[in-house]
Amino acid sequence: KMDYKNILFEYKNAIAYITINRSKQLNALNAETIAELSSAITLAENDKSIKCMIITGAEDKAFVAGADIKEFANYSKKEGENLARKGQEILFDLLENCGTPSIAAINGFALGGGLELAMACHIRIASENAKMGLPEVSLGVIPGYGGTQRLANLVGKGKAMEMITTAGMILAADAKSWGLVNYFCTQEELIPLAETIASKIIRNSPSAIAKAIKAVNAGFEEGINGFEVEKKEFGNCFESEEFKEGTNAFLEKRKANF
Ligand code: CAA
Repeated sequence: KMDYKNILFEYKNAIAYITINRSKQLNALNAETIAELSSAITLAENDKSIKCMIITGAEDKAFVAGADIKEFANYSKKEGENLARKGQEILFDLLENCGTPSIAAINGFALGGGLELAMACHIRIASENAKMGLPEVSLGVIPGYGGTQRLANLVGKGKAMEMITTAGMILAADAKSWGLVNYFCTQEELIPLAETIASKIIRNSPSAIAKAIKAVNAGFEEGINGFEVEKKEFGNCFESEEFKEGTNAFLEKRKANF
């Protein structure tokens, strides 16, 4: 258990539970919350006993209702660009490129920066009451935490254009059929479902998982050949202790102990 002001950080059975905890503001992301999330994710990545993260929102109304609108309402052009640049660097890109896999458990509104946070996670699941969207153009801004890129990657350009230009919200069933979330379930089942997925992840080689994440992400990066990264990372596995343990365990007909 770590002490933060805007998030809860708990740890059990190799899983870190990161909960955005500003329910009065529907868990909106102000600068302090973004910095705390950044620190928690860095901590989880550096702690070898943590093998998976579950990210969710406090209480049952919101995952995260977006960037904190009060905070940026009077920003200049330069401050606006800096907000997006710094946020993407210290949180959204960090999370997406983190070698420890993350599951977004979307427990309510995931809007703007909230949906962008979920999209930076490796896996997304939602509860039936969740509503997801990128409403930024209704405020006269555009998604600034990677939403224009990650939404198009996840649901395709046409559906992303519709969601972004209409500023509308979609429900969990549509989000699932569009590929925005992998599963949806009742609110009560949400964390148990995240834990079921996590329990499968934590059996596997953490160093292989980190390399796989790197290779998958490489395919979405401009100017980088994902197949080349895959070949290199495949080779790198062969000098890891976990590869020895994994293959020996198979040959000795026992469970691998990573
Ligand atoms: N920022 C700051 N405060 C927020 C917030 C946000 N994104 N979302 C909600 N809140 C606050 C409200 O101001 C309200 O506070 P007060 O009680 O002090 O007035 C409190 O949370 C509860 O919200 P509502 O009374 O509005 O609750 P509701 O049930 O009537 O509506 C909602 C829920 C539809 C989610 C509505 O709160 C809403 O539309 N929120 C804003 C969503 C949004 O536009 N998000 C995008 C932000 S821009 C962005 O994210 C930019 C980027 O990409 C970088």
